[in-house]
Amino acid sequence: MTMRKKIVAGNWKMNTTVSEGKQLLQDIIKLLGGTSEPADEVIICPPFTHLYAFKPFLSDTKNIYLGAQNVHTEDSGAYTGEISAIMLKDIGVDYVIIGHSERRQYFKEDDILLRQKVEQALKHGLKVIFCVGETEDEYERNHSEHVVKRQVISALFTLEPDQFQNIIIAYEPVWAIGTGKTATPDYAQKMHSFIRGLVKQRYGEKIAEGTTILYGGSIKPSNAGALFQQPDVDGGLVGGASLDAQSFVEIVKQIS
Ligand code: 13P
Repeated sequence: MTMRKKIVAGNWKMNTTVSEGKQLLQDIIKLLGGTSEPADEVIICPPFTHLYAFKPFLSDTKNIYLGAQNVHTEDSGAYTGEISAIMLKDIGVDYVIIGHSERRQYFKEDDILLRQKVEQALKHGLKVIFCVGETEDEYERNHSEHVVKRQVISALFTLEPDQFQNIIIAYEPVWAIGTGKTATPDYAQKMHSFIRGLVKQRYGEKIAEGTTILYGGSIKPSNAGALFQQPDVDGGLVGGASLDAQSFVEIVKQIS
């Protein structure tokens, strides 16, 4: 009997206008019947421009939350183009994705910066979906565990235990993101179990068993069920398939 939450999050990345996004959100809410069930939580992570406009649509829903896709390290100031944790919290955002491979790769975000972002988000009461995962090259050279261990330890393991309980980890092998190549359920389970083991070493059994670890990378309605059945896979972080209401909701419904 585990007490950790089962969660499905949709990362819309840089897709949809606000009006398209409102339609998609309303379709998702309708197909879900206004509740996250059978998942404990559903988290929608649209572009920044959508967040404020989306809040009213969630007022009558149950356990459906908003997440941002990025946050800056400072409270405020001369940082043209950036958005702070205070601003996100102010408009009712609950979560923020930090450490996504696209930000590591295209925006050169490194372990030290990501740790600062995590600390900043938690300081202002945002929960964090922290992404880790090896590249294709690292995977082929059998470095997956080594890379993921470094990513988890450097950004998260300076946190106090009570802070760490506001972290969701998302394991997203980079070679599976947007490629149609999904990790096999066995491989995902092996990596999730490895990550949970690291959390156990640092924070103990109780916190490790309570930590939600999501899988991400080409999740579709056709492969979600087998992934979610793995004992250490506690849900998913869905990219492409989260842009189609029917597909996204079919994925949520496969949470066991
Ligand atoms: P895809 O589901 O499109 O592979 O994207 C996964 C992802 O990066 C979610 O953050």
